[in-house]
Amino acid sequence: MGDGSQWGLTITYITQPSPDGLAQAYILAEDFLDGAPSAMVLGDNIFFGHGLPEMLAAADSKDNGGTVFGYHVADPERYGVVKFDDDGTVEQIIEKPDVPPSNYAVTGLYFLDGDAPRRAKQVKPSHRGELEIVTLLESYLHDGTLSVERMGRGYAWLDTGTHGSLLDAGNFVRTLSTRQGMQSGCPEEIAYMLGWIDDAKMAEHAEIFKKTDYGKYLKSLLRTGPTSDMI
Ligand code: G1P
Repeated sequence: MGDGSQWGLTITYITQPSPDGLAQAYILAEDFLDGAPSAMVLGDNIFFGHGLPEMLAAADSKDNGGTVFGYHVADPERYGVVKFDDDGTVEQIIEKPDVPPSNYAVTGLYFLDGDAPRRAKQVKPSHRGELEIVTLLESYLHDGTLSVERMGRGYAWLDTGTHGSLLDAGNFVRTLSTRQGMQSGCPEEIAYMLGWIDDAKMAEHAEIFKKTDYGKYLKSLLRTGPTSDMI
C-alpha cells in the first residue's frame, strides 16, 4: 500500500513489536492521534453491505465515546461477545467466552474518541497476556458512552483468520464480483468516485494491471467516468 499517494491518501505506519493485544494500538498511536478520535479496523476482517459507508460515517461523526458493531454469528465463542440484559441493553462484552451469552460478536471495527490512549494505558494484561480490546470497550461501557450498533443480516462480516475462513471470504467476493461485474472494495474505484484521483492517475493504474481482469475493470470505470451510479 506504500504511502497511499496512488489513491490520494497519506498512509503512515507504526510497528507493534510483539503481539500484546489490540488495545496496545492506542498506546503506540498516542502521538500520531494527538487527542483526535479514530477508527481502528483489523486487517483480517472483511465487511460488505449496502449502506455501509453511511453506517461508518454516522459512527465517525461522534466526537465523544465509542461505537462498535455487533453481528450475529454461529460461532460467537471465537470472538468478543455481547451480553444483553432483559431489556436489550448491553451489559458486558466478554472475550472468547466458553459459554457465549448471545450470538452477537463484536466485529473488529472500533470507533473511539480521543480518550482511548489514556484509557488503554489503564488496561491490565489478561490471562493470555494481552491488552484486550474488550477491556478498553468495557471502560466506555461503564461510563455509558459505548454504542453497540447491530449490523443486520443484510451485511456480511467475514473474518479471514483461518485457512477455511479465508477461502470462504475469497469465494464470497468472487461470487459477488462475477455476478455483478463490479469489484468489492476496489481502492482505485473509491478514490476515483470520491475525486481523490483524476483520470490520468486512474489510467496509470489501468495500465499497470492491464493484463488482468482488475485492469480491465479500471479501464471500464475510466470510460464511464467518476459517477456515483455504481456505488
Ligand atoms: C479480536 C478481538 C475480538 C473480536 C475479534 C474480531 O479477536 O479480541 O474481541 O471479536 O478480533 O475479529 P482475535 O483476532 O484476537 O482472535
